[in-house]
Amino acid sequence: MSRIDELIAAMTVDEKIGQLVMVSLGAETIVTGPGAAHEPSVEEVREGRIGSVLNLVGRDRIRALQRIAVEESRLGIPLLFGLDVVHGYFTDAPVPLGETAAFRPDLWEATARLAAEEACDEAIALTFAPMIDLARDPRWGRIVEGPGEDAHVGSVFARAKVRGFQGPDLAHPQALAATAKHFAAYGAVTAGRDYASVDVSERTLHEVYLPAFAAAVDEGCAAIMPAFVDLAGRPMSGDRGYLTDLVRRRWGFEGIYVSDYDAVGELVAHGVAADMAEAAARALDAGMDLDMMSPAYPKALKPALERGLVAMTALDAAVARVLRLKERLGLFEAPHARGAATSPRPRPRPERRALVRAVAAASLTLLANRDRVLPLATTGGPIALIGPFATTAEEMIGPWSGLGDQEITVTLAEGIAAAFPDRRITVTAGVAGEGDDGSGIAAAVAAAEAAEVVLLAIGEPARLSGEAASRARPGLTGRQADLARAVLATGKPVVVLLACGRPLTEAWLYEQAAATLVLWYPGSEGGNAVGDVLSGRANPSGRLPVSWPVDIGQIPVFYGERPTGRPFDPNEHFTTRYVDMPNAPLFPFGHGLSYTEFALSDPTVAAATFRAGETVTVSTELANTGSVAGATTVFLFLTDPVASTSRPLLELKRFETVELAAGAKRRLDFTLATADFACLGADLVARAEPGAFWLSVGFSADRKALKTVAVRLEAEPALV
Ligand code: GLC
Repeated sequence: MSRIDELIAAMTVDEKIGQLVMVSLGAETIVTGPGAAHEPSVEEVREGRIGSVLNLVGRDRIRALQRIAVEESRLGIPLLFGLDVVHGYFTDAPVPLGETAAFRPDLWEATARLAAEEACDEAIALTFAPMIDLARDPRWGRIVEGPGEDAHVGSVFARAKVRGFQGPDLAHPQALAATAKHFAAYGAVTAGRDYASVDVSERTLHEVYLPAFAAAVDEGCAAIMPAFVDLAGRPMSGDRGYLTDLVRRRWGFEGIYVSDYDAVGELVAHGVAADMAEAAARALDAGMDLDMMSPAYPKALKPALERGLVAMTALDAAVARVLRLKERLGLFEAPHARGAATSPRPRPRPERRALVRAVAAASLTLLANRDRVLPLATTGGPIALIGPFATTAEEMIGPWSGLGDQEITVTLAEGIAAAFPDRRITVTAGVAGEGDDGSGIAAAVAAAEAAEVVLLAIGEPARLSGEAASRARPGLTGRQADLARAVLATGKPVVVLLACGRPLTEAWLYEQAAATLVLWYPGSEGGNAVGDVLSGRANPSGRLPVSWPVDIGQIPVFYGERPTGRPFDPNEHFTTRYVDMPNAPLFPFGHGLSYTEFALSDPTVAAATFRAGETVTVSTELANTGSVAGATTVFLFLTDPVASTSRPLLELKRFETVELAAGAKRRLDFTLATADFACLGADLVARAEPGAFWLSVGFSADRKALKTVAVRLEAEPALV
């Protein structure tokens, strides 16, 4: 018998249920959901009633509790310690949406590795990341946690993160089990309101929201967290069709499902379970392994089993999966391997700081740069740094920064001062990020008037981004717009440094400012990275992972829309349009400026036709035609002009970020498999349909600027 079979044979029902219970034991430091957290209940651990713990931090506390589980519980089964290590533990990289803007899968992986090393050294074994919910609605605050609007980007991001967190061997003491979350389509909550119902078509689910999860599973992610929400009436946390039939059976997922916070118990509120026992039975039967923080499994699973609502075999199967993950993580052999370091609490090491600084610099996204106001000369007149985020650490590390240490976070004022030692810099808040106190605006105007150039550090307070932070009006908060208007009115060149977790719909500001640099929430080294870009030491290369709306009324606006029978025609009234604003976003997906210029040659393909099973290689030459070195991202889109179902006008298939010296050129080859041409038929089965396809290369999803080549998939000769 295997160790797991032996353990299951020896376990009481209470001990089995205990293995499925995950509770929060660290509420004094980290709170990630409603309700009172348990105090560390040593007794429950000793009795085997708790199998996993979240939010307990500090390796000594974790190791002490682990010792009780291993040495004092009847069966000595180790605990699994989980935490939201989202974009860092001590040393924070940019928030995921910002990091996505770097379009650098190697960096996405490297920062996950860094986070894993720091978290594992603090005795954490499981992270609730990567969050790979695509989002096309910036009203939803959690758009900050994910990779933006595109399914291909989401899939590449998912793979990079799973690889980075887990490494090649889960048993390694610095391997952090990854959780792909929140399965699935949580990003499509109605009207962008967090926790609201989701209703997307099966087609959109399969085309847009599932691919990143399929990629994570294919990459071997250890866990999946089903979303809180229902999908067209099917709450995901209790849905056997999705969790077991689709993901376990069809995709071959072998890891565990960990519920979202209280999501199993919330099946009652969703109206699909009459009481906790029914909720527990439904979730267990669906395939949910760990119940995070709901009363359902700990209090009501036993009665559910007794009432015959769910079979004991389902319990045993879930327990086996959880034990199997603990085994794969090496917890039975070496329960204290993670966190074994005896050094004092690690301070971020220089090479870690250098990595997150480089990633932050690569994620900063330059939306506009009129008259080439940026980069700023390192000598010259005074610089007025104005705005509520000039000196705040929160708006550097963002809303979900783990234990991201504010004390070691470099603020804008610090980073900019370091980048411009020879220029005088004044720092004035002007207003706060929230509230209606405008009394500091006059001082800000005076500071602007005394300066040669203004850096305006404004945006969205981190507190208003993230979970439970939906905004009906995603724009500047408090009196920041008044501050911006007053400073712009001085006539001084104003460079907006926009800290935000989502596109902020303030078109007037981006039109009037001399330049706008989107910082997102850039992480522990944010201030230094901004200094690098403002001074030209780093050349900005961030590209928008989401379309940036002109106005709230356009939401959702995304590049992958389908054709209409009445495409927009300015000369024809009865075509698709708003009468009061353009259809196009203010800045398209992929937009972002550089201090240099790039050009692409017309793409070519080796052969104009191909057959099923063959690959297609699209080639183009990228040239840096400007006068400084820089990086840009080249996107390859596919269009299928005629298919059995109407396909999106553009589908991203590949992207590559390339660094080139001034004047240098590089040939890029993108190879596509036949499967890359496939679409879902009316039966939702993927097939590559014969006929013409257009392959387009470009620097963004602006269709007018793409360069295109056609290829044809030949029909198979008929069998005679
Ligand atoms: C939550 C979140 C989830 C997180 C969990 C544990 O409320 O929805 O993303 O992993 O709590 O902190």
